[in-house]
Amino acid sequence: MVFDDKRESMEEAGVGPALFPHTRHEELYSCEECHPSIFKKKRGANDVSMKANMDGRFCGTPACHDSIGAFPLYICTRCHINVKQP
Ligand code: HEC
Ligand code: HEC
Repeated sequence: MVFDDKRESMEEAGVGPALFPHTRHEELYSCEECHPSIFKKKRGANDVSMKANMDGRFCGTPACHDSIGAFPLYICTRCHINVKQP
């Protein structure tokens, strides 16, 4: 799944769309761990931003990409494609 609603601010920040591998997450977690408490079960229904992620919501929920169990939020390239090289 591709998160690209915020294409413009991502372009400004020099990162491309964020890719979310749904199948991979299904292998690791049960549906109820994400739906509906972390993500509404509908494409585009969640207003995900890096501020929200860093505030501990969505991808940055404490047991998720803000824990030793998963790569951290500061490794931009694990989620965003087309990151501009400096
Ligand atoms: C790690 C979290 C996570 C898990 C676990 C997870 N999902 Fe999702 N799911 C998401 C995200 C993120 C989206 C996209 C939401 C968006 O676009 O805002 C999504 C979207 C969906 C959608 C909407 C698809 C569409 O095209 O509108 C359905 C249906 C769905 N999930 C079902 C499931 C089912 C069934 C399971 C268990 C087998 C599951 N999900 C497990 C995070 C998860
Ligand atoms: C765990 C996955 C993940 C990581 C790691 C991540 N992002 Fe994101 N980021 C997202 C998602 C998902 C969105 C929502 C995009 C949308 O819906 O358009 C997003 C949105 C953004 C946006 C646009 C919206 C906003 O909040 O301004 C920018 C800019 C951004 N990310 C920059 C970064 C940078 C810079 C890093 C590294 C410090 C980073 N991201 C790391 C998943 C991630």
